[in-house]
Amino acid sequence: MQSKKEKIVVISGAGISAESGLVTFRDADGLWQKYAVEELATPEAFAANPELVHRFYNARRKQAAAASPNAAHLAIASLEQHYQVVVITQNVDDLHERAGSTQVIHLHGKLCEARSSLNPELVEYIGDVELTEHDTAADGSALRPNIVWFGEEVPAMITAIEEVESADKILVVGSSLQVYPAASLLSYAHHKAEKVLINLESPDFISEYRFLQGKTATEVPKLVASWLGMAAINPTKFV
Ligand code: APR
Repeated sequence: MQSKKEKIVVISGAGISAESGLVTFRDADGLWQKYAVEELATPEAFAANPELVHRFYNARRKQAAAASPNAAHLAIASLEQHYQVVVITQNVDDLHERAGSTQVIHLHGKLCEARSSLNPELVEYIGDVELTEHDTAADGSALRPNIVWFGEEVPAMITAIEEVESADKILVVGSSLQVYPAASLLSYAHHKAEKVLINLESPDFISEYRFLQGKTATEVPKLVASWLGMAAINPTKFV
């Protein structure tokens, strides 16, 4: 009889990075309360005013690089001791990776990468450098942040759905669940999967999810401790 680790899928949003000092999007002090999405996070915005869009992402890139993973990121990474873990994040920072998570899918792209404006596959790692409207990709097109902007396809969505469908546990952390298709992932969970949602406020979500209200850095470690405790008692699922 072969033993198989249970699979956990974590779906995270800005509320997990908020505990590392990175502002969210829709809270009172959120980015979309200060800036118009249409002027900063669409392909049309970049075509119209690349200098402004670069300035916006350069600032966020620097802030993300200066931030550190918090207890929630670290707890999620520690789940890999006893579980197969896939993190599907809407966040564009690399705090999950820096906390030690090894399987991370970025639905909305990554601040530490840039890409060709013509070919989404032509991606390069840029770390925390500043981009300007004069920077070009290898194909000669304008180099742009490797961020999925509003109105653009979410290339990782198919893979993300497959991961959610095959999960034994789903943990949704720190998202207002306002943005699609990301928010639709919750509906792909297997009916037998354990489903938990941790958030400061109660977003509109599917009632099958157990809601734990509170800060991610407080609530995630508590839940992870209970899951790791259980795994230590009955370490693997037999198939
Ligand atoms: N602990 C727990 N939850 C928190 C905390 C915290 N410290 N701080 C904020 N939250 C919750 C808020 O209550 C809110 O429900 O996190 C959620 C953040 O919601 P949004 O700001 O909408 O962020 P998110 O859901 O990740 O946005 C999704 O929208 O603009 C796009 O591409 C962008 O990926 C982003 C997407």
